[in-house]
Amino acid sequence: MNDSRLTLPSFAKVNWRLQVIGKRDDGYHDIFTIFQTISLCDELHFEHAGKLSLACDDASIPTGAENLIVQAAELLREEFSVDAGAAIRLTKRIPAPGGLGGGSSNAAVALVGLCRLWAIRPDREALLRLANLLGSDVPFFLVGGTAIGTGRGTEIEPIADIEEPLMLTVTPRIAVSTADAFRRLNSKRLTIEESKSILEICRKDAQGFGTRHSDLKNDFEASVFELHPEIRGLKGRLMKHGANGALLSGSGASVFAIFDKKETRQATLEALGNETDWRAFAVSTVNRADYAKAIGLKAVVSD
Ligand code: C5P
Repeated sequence: MNDSRLTLPSFAKVNWRLQVIGKRDDGYHDIFTIFQTISLCDELHFEHAGKLSLACDDASIPTGAENLIVQAAELLREEFSVDAGAAIRLTKRIPAPGGLGGGSSNAAVALVGLCRLWAIRPDREALLRLANLLGSDVPFFLVGGTAIGTGRGTEIEPIADIEEPLMLTVTPRIAVSTADAFRRLNSKRLTIEESKSILEICRKDAQGFGTRHSDLKNDFEASVFELHPEIRGLKGRLMKHGANGALLSGSGASVFAIFDKKETRQATLEALGNETDWRAFAVSTVNRADYAKAIGLKAVVSD
């Protein structure tokens, strides 16, 4: 049965770990990452319409062909020969850009929402293939929870969910280009064997992984902090205010932090709010089962 209209949350992510292994022949980089969905979310509303249109309450978000939601819709229409259109409304809360995966999440949720609206029932492989075409972080948002990402970030392996109820994300008003951040790493082009052996080291190192400060790693921190010392300063402030751990998310500029007491998190939120105009959100992890339920993944793909 298809829905005539529906509203879905589109959750953000952080990366507990993000290690860049080396440069590939296709211009991308091989990575090892541990993704995590978090409760900060946008909202996507879908309705039947003759034409395809996208509206957003945030004027800084482009709503034309460059928006991944529009690209997701066009891909689905082409792949499944859909003539119908859709009126899509995006309510934006996830800071963009920010390294929190907002655009990628929107693209994945657009695939799911439009499959429901247009009564398309693709198999998981087909949906993952389309997600792959839309961007390196998009396939993760068809899985959610805690998951390892390898290759370009598109090979997703779900792992045991990590639960962290008391987190903050803080996004300074700095735009970091992901492509630039990768370029600045100046990574080596590796042979397949070299890549494999580094990936194995990353995997071993991640065994028994937790969320202590020393468990959190992001290879972009050194170069992004060098270019934008205020982001390093933000991480330092979060730790000084009493966070158990803090890390740059993706290529930034957001930094997330983990707390063990509600009061410490609240005091940090208030202190930052008084000192800066950075956007800060109190968030928690979203596990895979809750994620799949919230976006109605089962209605679209069956295992
Ligand atoms: O895949 P996505 O469009 O999100 O990637 C944005 C840019 O980041 C790519 O054009 C590429 O320059 C860089 N990138 C990369 N290696 C990855 C993912 C992204 O070099 N694994």
